[in-house]
Amino acid sequence: MPVYLDHAATTPMLPAVRDAYVAALDLVGNPASIHAHGQNAKRMLEEAREQVAASLGCDPIEVVFTSGGTEAVNLGVKGLFWARNAAGASRPRILVPRGEHHATIDTVEWLATHEGAVIDWLPIDAVGRIDVAAVDSALREHDDIALLTLLWANNEVGTIQPVGELTALAAAHGVPVHVDAVSAYGHLPVSLRDSGASAISISAHKIGGPLGIGALALSRSATVEPLLHGGGQQRNVRSGTQDAPGAIAFGVAAQHPLSSLEPLRDRLIEGVLASVEGAVLRGDPEHRLDNNAHFTFEGCQGDSLLFMLDMAGISASTGSACQAGIPEPSHVLLGMGLTEADARSALRFTLGHDSTEADVDALLAALPAAVERARRAGYSDRAV
Ligand SMILES: Cc1ncc(COP(=O)(O)O)c(C=O)c1O
Repeated sequence: MPVYLDHAATTPMLPAVRDAYVAALDLVGNPASIHAHGQNAKRMLEEAREQVAASLGCDPIEVVFTSGGTEAVNLGVKGLFWARNAAGASRPRILVPRGEHHATIDTVEWLATHEGAVIDWLPIDAVGRIDVAAVDSALREHDDIALLTLLWANNEVGTIQPVGELTALAAAHGVPVHVDAVSAYGHLPVSLRDSGASAISISAHKIGGPLGIGALALSRSATVEPLLHGGGQQRNVRSGTQDAPGAIAFGVAAQHPLSSLEPLRDRLIEGVLASVEGAVLRGDPEHRLDNNAHFTFEGCQGDSLLFMLDMAGISASTGSACQAGIPEPSHVLLGMGLTEADARSALRFTLGHDSTEADVDALLAALPAAVERARRAGYSDRAV
């Protein structure tokens, strides 16, 4: 089997989750139905909501199940924007740091195109940390801010943001904060209550849960306009028959204890830096997700290296999106001030609950030759 080092993209299901999920597929009954079948499904769904709430530092009533992280981010960002602009209010401004996930970028850009939103793109520094002073001055300067939205931890370079500091600044100006915690959840303690955020997005498939379910933890004191209209489920915030089996499986994944991957990550980072000349660790070396190791490899194209490693039985990621099949330089790395050539030379390795020392050692054995070959491929590209 190839070695899987792309857990930030999606994780294998935990065995206990799989067992619970398979059993729950036999559930009969819509949780909104009042008969015994429906009430049984509802009881199990609400137990799952309690488990997810416990993992998120919020009350069960504050958990809104969604179809995943993307929907949660859309609901959090659009929902807060619309609610803040209801009843004649005019707060078109959204504060967004550079380097956010496309779930956020594309959502705010859609709001700008279709709903008159004004986007203030805020700087990040050379390791991907949000510039707190820039957020502070934007909050002081404008009184038409709908919301601040930010990543808890960057999904490409693993940099952890000073969330509490930023929510405290926003609170002083009465500005709600949405936090995309999809990559942080399961690796860091994520708490709605302690963070001071109004809404937090998470996704089950990043923590050993199933695909197709996520949640928005939405503070009782926050108001969002729904994206979906229909049966009025989940406090009328997210209509649609609820996915009891998905939620049950999510609930099991949510109970999985946080266990630090830091020693394994550090073995990987130290090994790569020692064995590959021209490898540079990107992101914050200190405030960094325990499962993330992200490098640029001077003189390589990240996608060539990805291919070489794939041939050698290692699955990794460039971490950035493709546009119509053409690899784009990462907007995160460009935002951190890297050149386009450096940004194109990136590769991300992300660990998960099933990662082992043998996986890291297999990478370290294959990487130097793969980099060498990718560098040669890069040079021949340039010659033609
Ligand atoms: C930071 C971040 N936000 C949002 C998402 C979207 O989550 P989902 O795949 O559950 O829609 C991802 C997934 O890659 C992510 O890494």
